[in-house]
Amino acid sequence: MKLLICMLLLLTTITLTEADLIGYACSEGQATTPNFSYKFCVDVLRSDPKTNKSSLHDLSLVPLRLAISKATSTVSLLQTLLRKSSDPRVRGHLTNCLHQYSEMVTELIYSVEDIHSGDYFDADLKLRDALNSPGRCEDGFRSDGGGGGVSPVKGMNDEISNLIVVCELLVEDVH
Ligand SMILES: *[C@@H]1O[C@H](CO)[C@@H](O)[C@H](O)[C@H]1NC(C)=O
Ligand SMILES: *[C@@H]1O[C@H](CO)[C@@H](O)[C@H](O)[C@H]1NC(C)=O
Repeated sequence: MKLLICMLLLLTTITLTEADLIGYACSEGQATTPNFSYKFCVDVLRSDPKTNKSSLHDLSLVPLRLAISKATSTVSLLQTLLRKSSDPRVRGHLTNCLHQYSEMVTELIYSVEDIHSGDYFDADLKLRDALNSPGRCEDGFRSDGGGGGVSPVKGMNDEISNLIVVCELLVEDVH
């Protein structure tokens, strides 16, 4: 992994083509992260036509912006679900998820600021913190089988986690 990062940095300075850069980052994810989807990674990093795909800095912001947008929608969804729910157990878990997601949005926004100021190490720490939130949201539902043992935002949890992992790959490569 270290060797790969060195190679990547070396190659980056020689200027990789955009396909190479995305390919390297996503292959690294596949090699180091369980259940990592190479296709998801490539699709996400190619998704914004305006991004300079030769720049690790610009590319790292693509999954991060998507994660923020999805996490913000999830906060609204959780608020709606909370208003509709009357089961005290489920309400407790939803409140926990809402708290987790609000924290995650804050961490993600701070990590955008870190990336803008070139502070990739701190950005990575915040991404790691953020990555704990979806699991902590799920844990509540799993703990006592409330709501069928799965949170109503499980799909969002998984997708946001994957986006953060993709962003981490890039951020860890730059710093
Ligand atoms: C990977 O996927 C399998 C099957 O979907 C699942 O059982 C396992 O918990 C996953 N591992 C991780 C680390 O997410
Ligand atoms: C894109 O990023 C690369 C690497 O940082 C840089 O060399 C290049 O000038 C950038 N291209 C544009 C159009 O900004």
